[in-house]
Amino acid sequence: MKTMIVGGAGFVGSHLSEALLAAGHDVTVVDNLLTGRESNIRQLLGDANFCFVRRDAITPITASEIAEWGEGIERIYYLASPASPDDYFAWPVETLLVNSAGVYNFLQLAERNHARFLLTSTSEAYGDPLVHPQPETYWGNVNPVGPRSCYDEGKRFAESMTMAFVRNRTVDGRIVRIFNTYARA
Ligand SMILES: NC(=O)c1ccc[n+]([C@@H]2O[C@H](COP(=O)([O-])OP(=O)(O)OC[C@H]3O[C@@H](n4cnc5c(N)ncnc54)[C@H](O)[C@@H]3O)[C@@H](O)[C@H]2O)c1
Repeated sequence: MKTMIVGGAGFVGSHLSEALLAAGHDVTVVDNLLTGRESNIRQLLGDANFCFVRRDAITPITASEIAEWGEGIERIYYLASPASPDDYFAWPVETLLVNSAGVYNFLQLAERNHARFLLTSTSEAYGDPLVHPQPETYWGNVNPVGPRSCYDEGKRFAESMTMAFVRNRTVDGRIVRIFNTYARA
């Protein structure tokens, strides 16, 4: 299967790339290396089934780019976003844009290709929750003007945009809200 991981040079994305390649899939990573590192995917660069496109997700995708790396994609995993507080405090505008314009660009690519789209959202979508643990029916307690709002509201917008493409367009979209994920170095 032809898969694409937007944000695939990051922590989660590089491991997902390895797992999908090991399962026999083609993997195209799109990443601008804002918070990711090429060293995360260096061991994959020689794999004939792996392709790395260094590019900002925020920029609209052109017809020539679709011909070059966007044709025939069957699954899009959208992971692109600064994820740690230090990163989104440093890059608030970029965080809002990658979770809005970037998500929109790749939902359009998914729609064009009839590809399934998976958004990685976050437990931060609940904001400062008043309910513990949070069931998916809980809508959250989010401060829209606080310093974390670039991430919290960005992800809420991304979820809303994904659901608009599911309900009113033709995309088979999924959302996962990841809670804290870490690994030993
Ligand atoms: N790690 C966690 O605990 C956790 C928890 C909740 C949600 N998530 C979500 O999972 C996803 C991956 O998180 P991670 O921990 O691997 O973060 P990460 O920062 O390691 O990876 C994010 C990747 O997105 C890329 N990126 C950022 N902006 C981009 C842009 N404009 N264009 C292209 N690429 C861009 C970065 O360069 C990086 O490689 C994120 O969407 C994050 O919000 C992670």
